[in-house]
Amino acid sequence: MALRVLFVCLGNICRSPTAEGLFRAALMDSKLDQFVDVDSCGTAGYHIGAPPDPRSVQAAAVRGIDISSLKARRVEAQDFDLFDYVLAMDRQNLRDLRKIQPPESKATVGLFLDYADNPTVREVPDPYYGGAEGFERVLDLIEAASIGLIDDIRTRHGDRLSS
Ligand code: 4NP
Repeated sequence: MALRVLFVCLGNICRSPTAEGLFRAALMDSKLDQFVDVDSCGTAGYHIGAPPDPRSVQAAAVRGIDISSLKARRVEAQDFDLFDYVLAMDRQNLRDLRKIQPPESKATVGLFLDYADNPTVREVPDPYYGGAEGFERVLDLIEAASIGLIDDIRTRHGDRLSS
């Protein structure tokens, strides 16, 4: 069965869909896309069914990644059974996830940026109320952590990365 990775932010229209798109592209570059499934969601329900924020779509498009067809959804308790990794963009997201994580869940739950090599920050700042540079920063942080997450998957789940 494919390994499954879920990215989580607040609204699921800026940071986590960007992580979903970039990480999927990184998996393709590493020829691991057939072994790893990726999804994203939000801890809040404000934007359920909505596509990513146009500023996130544009910022990802500049790097050759199309996230325009993604749709926001809210995290559910069963996600902790369905996904191997449940990775939050910031500490508040992580606190909110811990509140609904079933006690028997075996998912690896943590901060996505902790997978970056030499991380300078542990949180992806929410770009929603800021300018374009915030969206660029989101991409840079996510790119670095994606490389580290692929390394972690190879190390811990190498047995699931071949057919
Ligand atoms: P996200 O950003 O959590 O990265 O998707 C936000 C999107 C919407 C809101 C806040 C943050 N909002 O308040 O509607």
